[in-house]
Parts: sequence; structure tokens; C-alpha cells
Amino acid sequence: MRKSYKDNQVLRGINFEVEKGTILALLGPNGAGKTTTVRILSTLLGFDKGTVTIGGFDVQTHADDVRRSIGLTGQSAAVDELLTGRENLVMMGRLYHLTKQSAHARADELLEEFGLVDAANRPAKTYSGGMRRRLDLAVSLIATPPIIFLDEPTTGLDPRSRIAMWDIIDRLKQGGATILLTTQYLEEADQLADKIVVIDGGKVIANGTAKELKARVGKDRLELTFGTQKLFKSAVSVLEKDIQETNADNKSLTIVLKDTNADVKKTIDLLAKHELKFDAMAVHKPTLDDVFLALTGKQAKDTEGK
Ligand SMILES: Nc1ncnc2c1ncn2[C@@H]1O[C@H](COP(=O)(O)OP(=O)(O)OP(=O)(O)O)[C@@H](O)[C@H]1O
Ligand SMILES: [Mg+2]
Repeated sequence: MRKSYKDNQVLRGINFEVEKGTILALLGPNGAGKTTTVRILSTLLGFDKGTVTIGGFDVQTHADDVRRSIGLTGQSAAVDELLTGRENLVMMGRLYHLTKQSAHARADELLEEFGLVDAANRPAKTYSGGMRRRLDLAVSLIATPPIIFLDEPTTGLDPRSRIAMWDIIDRLKQGGATILLTTQYLEEADQLADKIVVIDGGKVIANGTAKELKARVGKDRLELTFGTQKLFKSAVSVLEKDIQETNADNKSLTIVLKDTNADVKKTIDLLAKHELKFDAMAVHKPTLDDVFLALTGKQAKDTEGK
């Protein structure tokens, strides 16, 4: 699909599929087009060219069917500040035509599931950021939709709340949901997603599993740290041709490994031969940050307004 605002091309031909029962992460920096994509997929926004099918329904010709199949948690919260958590849930249940009784039952179920029982009768404006995010997600799940859109579900959460949210998302998948989530966090996509679509400047720049994306950047790296400047300098002169990076301050150096086991052994043997002892050694696997760097030639960064 393509989408422009006046002459600003925001989506320049985005194309991907999400398999039923899986999680797809749409990964990209600020302004990449994540929210625009989610809004189009969830029928909130029109687009210029292309086709979008959600659960077998065309978003342009069967928007109502699409809406009945999806739950959406947006980047900006949709809960009513003045209502309590329970009231928010019950109200949304009534909007979805649940009977009064089933709306209350479903609200209780969700309060339980999202760890909000204790706060259920407090106005949402008294909730912390993490609680609000959980309530937001709970509200979007009132009608147990089979397809769920989550726009940056963990942005702004502390590490513990983030892990709790990951847990919730994983349980939704275990329950059979198909999920599209957006994130700026490579490690989040790595953790949750079966497939990752990396977008930048309104274009898909990579598409695959975390493992496949990492394999595209390839190589493991060996990092060696030495106890003194003298040892560090001697090691640098011995290993010189293999070294990709040195850091004189913390006396460490990095070697990119072509054959992980053989190259580590070769390096250690060479140091032993010269009686150079290292302090610490680590083999690093490539991260999705490395992937982004390799794909775009730059760190994931804000492209807003460009
Ligand atoms: N209503 C609008 N009118 C004009 N330009 C818009 C509009 N909405 C979004 N844009 C532009 O479209 C581009 C993509 O925005 P979008 O919100 O989809 O990015 P995003 O990937 O969700 O970013 P973030 O990580 O900051 O949420 C941005 O350059 C933004 O300024
Ligand atoms: Mg966004």
C-alpha cells in the first residue's frame, strides 16, 4: 500500500503478510510509518494505492467485518480518565453489545488477567503509566478479537512492566490470536515476534525471522579485555591484522570471527604463545541493532519531518 499526505509520501509501497496465529513486529524508528500502517490496517485511515485484507476481509469494501475481527490499542490512550478501570471495561463491553451481565463478567475476567483487580474501582487518572497501558489493552480485548493491533505497547514502560506486557502479549498468542505490534525496540521484536518487518522512511527494508535478519549481518565478534595498557598494546601488535576495533580506555579490542570456534582458538593460542594474559573474554552474537545498522548504514534514529 501507498499513502501520501499532500506531497509527503509517508508509505512508499509497504507489502507484507501475517500468518494466522503468529506475531509480526513492525519495527522502525520515529516517523518510519508504523502508526500510519496500523491506522490503515484497522480501517481508521484511507490510503492511496494497493489492497489490504484483514482476516479475509478487504478493508475498503468490508470495513465493518474488519472492525468486528480486530482489537486495537493505539499509541495514545483510549480510556476515559474519570471512569474507574472496571467502568471503562463495562462501558466498552456495552458498546460491543454485550448484555449488562456479560459485560460485567468479561470486565472481571480482564481485570483478573491484567493484574488490575486491586485498582478496579479507582478512576483511571490515578493509574500509573504501566497500569494504564494494561487497561488500554484490556479495553481493546473486550470482544475477544482474533486479530490484535498493538501500536508501541511498551513504549515508556519501566523494565518490569515491559516484561509483564511481553508476558500478556505472549499469552494472547497462546490463546490463538494473530498479532501485529509496532516497536522501536529491536530486542522487543526479537523477544516476541515470529516475523519482523523493518520499515524506514515508509519502505520495507527487511523482512524475516529475527534469526534470518541476524544471519544477514552475520558474524560473531570476540571481545578481549586486558588488565594493563602494556598488555593491551602488546596484544594489539600481536593480533593486529585481525582487529576491527580497539578501545584503549578500557583496554579492550574486538575481532570479527569468520569461523567462531576456530578463530577463538587461534586467537587464544597466539596470545598464549606470546605469554599475554587477558582479563576478560566474550563472544557476542549479532543483535538486531547491528542488523539495523547494516541495513540502513545508520543507527535506528528519528526520521520525523524528513
Ligand atoms: N495527519 C498527518 N498529516 C501529515 N503528515 C502526517 C500525518 N500523520 C503522520 N504524518 C507523517 O507521516 C510520517 C509517519 O508517521 P507515523 O506516525 O506513521 O510514524 P511512526 O513510525 O508511527 O513514528 P513513531 O515511532 O514516532 O510513533 C511522519 O513523517 C509524520 O510526520
Ligand atoms: Mg507511531
